[in-house]
Amino acid sequence: MSKIICRCEDLTEEEILDFIHQGFTTIDEIKRFSRAGMGHCQGRTCKRLIAQLISRETGKPLNEILYSKPRSPIKPVTLRTLANHK
Ligand code: FES
Repeated sequence: MSKIICRCEDLTEEEILDFIHQGFTTIDEIKRFSRAGMGHCQGRTCKRLIAQLISRETGKPLNEILYSKPRSPIKPVTLRTLANHK
């Protein structure tokens, strides 16, 4: 019996490992193809577990996997700030 990694999308460790072995080695790639991290908790529960699996299978450092791609905005921005931006 395989462990559940993403409870919201009902994905098991075995399913996530299949994606990694197919060559999907970033959290975003696995998210796009499996929906892991797109559930109610938005990955708060499963993101770190998926990163640990990627790290274990690829040998990449965990920090490199978790914080690989900053996306803007880096910090929360109010709509007022965006509306006043020229
Ligand atoms: S456990 Fe994966 S999105 Fe919630």
